[in-house]
Amino acid sequence: MKKEKEIKKTESIKWELSPAPESTGHISLKAKYDLFIDGKWVKPSSGKYFDTINPANEEKLAEIAYANASDVDKAVKAARKAYSNIWSKISPSERSKYMYRIARMIQERAREFAVIETLDGGKPIRESRDVDIPLAANHFFYYAGWADKLEYAFPNRKVESLGVAGQIIPWNFPLLMASWKIAPALACGNTVVLKPAETTSLTCLKLAEIIEESGLPAGVVNIITGFGDTGAAIVNHPDVNKVAFTGSTGVGKIIQRTVSNTEKKLTLELGGKSANIIFEDAPIDQAVEGIINGIFFNQGHVCCAGSRLFVQEGVADEVIQKLKNRMEHLYIGDPMDKNTDIGAINSKEQLETIKKYLKIAKNEGNKIIESSCNTPSKGYFCKPTLILDVAQSSTLVQEEIFGPVLTIQTFRTVDEVIQKANNTPFGLAAGVWTDKGSKIFNLTTKLRAGVVWANTYNKFDPTSPFGGYKESGFGREGGVHGLEAYLKI
Ligand code: NAI
Ligand code: MG
Repeated sequence: MKKEKEIKKTESIKWELSPAPESTGHISLKAKYDLFIDGKWVKPSSGKYFDTINPANEEKLAEIAYANASDVDKAVKAARKAYSNIWSKISPSERSKYMYRIARMIQERAREFAVIETLDGGKPIRESRDVDIPLAANHFFYYAGWADKLEYAFPNRKVESLGVAGQIIPWNFPLLMASWKIAPALACGNTVVLKPAETTSLTCLKLAEIIEESGLPAGVVNIITGFGDTGAAIVNHPDVNKVAFTGSTGVGKIIQRTVSNTEKKLTLELGGKSANIIFEDAPIDQAVEGIINGIFFNQGHVCCAGSRLFVQEGVADEVIQKLKNRMEHLYIGDPMDKNTDIGAINSKEQLETIKKYLKIAKNEGNKIIESSCNTPSKGYFCKPTLILDVAQSSTLVQEEIFGPVLTIQTFRTVDEVIQKANNTPFGLAAGVWTDKGSKIFNLTTKLRAGVVWANTYNKFDPTSPFGGYKESGFGREGGVHGLEAYLKI
């Protein structure tokens, strides 16, 4: 108890910061965006467009073309033609030259990309500037390097490209997910039809502009915008050889069923409910910072968010008190402000989903602690929230919330925490905080998760494979493993 008071006393100052908004002067946005098919901007055959808005103030940013099955067919035909006539024929080192060029162009326009990502999706500018955009460029650089070295990636084995890749991506890391999908596909000699999520199409369309300027042969990358039915048309198209999807487990299951009786190759990267585990011997302050980053980073819109905290009993009071203090010091609000830690929830629908879970928590009688901060009156915002006294069987512990909501459970023994951490339908990531290397090695072999971070969280690198177990999906993206998804070996 004494300790709690001490912590409170020393960490209770929250500075009032003057607004520090990033400027929008240097960005260029069109009022209306068409589809990027066969190297040209074409109108959707239905003539329909939809609005994309800024979730931080609900203002319209632009109109986006709504593609239907006939537009998808045009795009797949363009991708097939480009594959057969050009992309599968040119030398691999030519392929990498185009990819290096695209990577450099993303870097040159990084500031514009960061601002548009934040306006369209609601994530803090600090994140789009320091994480999303640099990593997107790095993926192109990294896979550009593999294009002419595929025989070294898979020694003594013959590798062949697949053909046309249909790629569907979500709204949490729009440009980064586009790069995760497009870069390995191109490096391996495939052509692409990609659909961004309906709430965050803009940076993919800006990427299409770069692709056009880069001189990449027409049809090698086609960007199609629209909703779920547009995505379904890509999945169902008979001339698509490979489907890559990142998004909800529900849609992933539909896609798996559709693809199961075809020749199409499939990778799925779905939801998560990742455990972050703090042992008594952990560096507590560092761990608290990592937990905060793991769940509140990008408003919890991260498939591998550390959304379940397990803390060993002996340090539970201290950790919870420090989390509460740290949470009080987070800045929530205008995503364009350089000091903002937590920006806007991506859409009204997603905010409602999060609220639905908070209501369940209330009905279950869990202890709910939310930050006392104010949220802006316009736009979609959710205060960072901790859920205590929650049972392993609770919906809050079992289902993906995809928002800034952290459940906290305690444990006594290593075996108990392994059993609890593994006890959800998901298996994407986990974090372990301890001073003991032996504990880290023991847990990394027993946690059923694609990625296990030790004494850190949410660290990404193009050279490192990423993907899940169980309902979190299958196949790996990133690293040498990421090449396999786009090759016949
Ligand atoms: P979603 O899975 O519906 O959307 C992802 C993408 O799939 C979008 O581009 C969407 O247009 C497309 N899509 C939707 N229905 C499709 C279909 N039948 N066939 C082909 N493509 C289709 O995800 P949504 O509704 O935006 O979010 C719902 C939940 O999914 C979130 O609350 C979160 O729990 C989870 N999610 C997980 C993500 C991850 O990175 N693993 C990313 C986004 C959402
Ligand atoms: Mg938007």
